[in-house]
Amino acid sequence: MENSKAVVITGTSSGIGKACALYLDKMGFKVYAGVRKQADGDNLRKEASARLTPIILDVCDAESISTAASVIEKETGGNVFGLINNAGIGQGGPLEVTPVSEIRKVMEINVVGLMAVTQAFLPMLRKSKGRIVNIGSSTSIIAFPGASIYAASKFAVRAFTDSLRVELKLFDMSVVLVVPGHVETVMWNKEEKYKDKLHKTIDPEIAQQYAPLIKFGNKLTAEMERIPANEVAKVVATSLKTKKPKHYYLVGKDAKGVSIAAKFPKRFLDWMFYKRIQKME
Ligand SMILES: NC(=O)c1ccc[n+]([C@@H]2O[C@H](COP(=O)([O-])OP(=O)(O)OC[C@H]3O[C@@H](n4cnc5c(N)ncnc54)[C@H](OP(=O)(O)O)[C@@H]3O)[C@@H](O)[C@H]2O)c1
Repeated sequence: MENSKAVVITGTSSGIGKACALYLDKMGFKVYAGVRKQADGDNLRKEASARLTPIILDVCDAESISTAASVIEKETGGNVFGLINNAGIGQGGPLEVTPVSEIRKVMEINVVGLMAVTQAFLPMLRKSKGRIVNIGSSTSIIAFPGASIYAASKFAVRAFTDSLRVELKLFDMSVVLVVPGHVETVMWNKEEKYKDKLHKTIDPEIAQQYAPLIKFGNKLTAEMERIPANEVAKVVATSLKTKKPKHYYLVGKDAKGVSIAAKFPKRFLDWMFYKRIQKME
């Protein structure tokens, strides 16, 4: 009965995380919704049932993770069925002009934080033969040029999922990767702001050299059809409810297209991308 099952979701202040929190709450799960600000938790509460419990959880802060885990352990008697590792940031731009501090931030949130949260909740998930749902991306399947850092983080999430899936089979647990294509969330606005700020700091001569790559990235982003975050939430719910979850869940047309394109020879894919970038000159 999922009605009484406890699930923890990271990054529920907006976008996919928020959609998952509200959708799973509606389905009857006992949702622990990770937020970094009290106000975001209060807002969620207004839209959810009394079951939903916002919890302060910053995936980059060890103390915040351990406090959240102890509170949830106490409340659930150590029985947590699901962990949805959703918190993440998007980030694009040429490697050469990206400050190392930004690279560390992406890796810290999207990869190390996700692993740290998983580790903290594993004893509870193991106890209930539970499930871990990692939110990957189509960039977990194909690493798009101009998004090397984000792609590296999302490939890492896929590798982590693949390895852990077998590691935790010992305990009858499932680990799945949800692969959304482009989703309508504020992540895109945040990324735009980040890029604008970054571009202001680039040496104009270097900016000119990277102009085709930057234009290519902008065009690709503008062309992609974005699906509603609720579509991802429905798939996350399926991955928690179904008896035998799939390894990967592709959500949306572009995620499915990317998974087909990934079967093409690398040389062909590189040529295709390169031709499109050259056209931007
Ligand atoms: N949007 C897309 O097209 C798309 C496609 C594929 C995959 N994804 C993935 O989906 C996930 C959610 O993205 P979204 O599109 O829903 O973006 P979003 O609306 O910007 O949500 C990101 C969430 O992550 C949280 N977060 C950021 N840093 C955190 C930290 N250190 N600790 C805890 N939470 C933190 C944010 O909280 P604050 O508000 O406190 O910053 C926010 O709740 C990400 O992993 C993203 O890579 C998105």
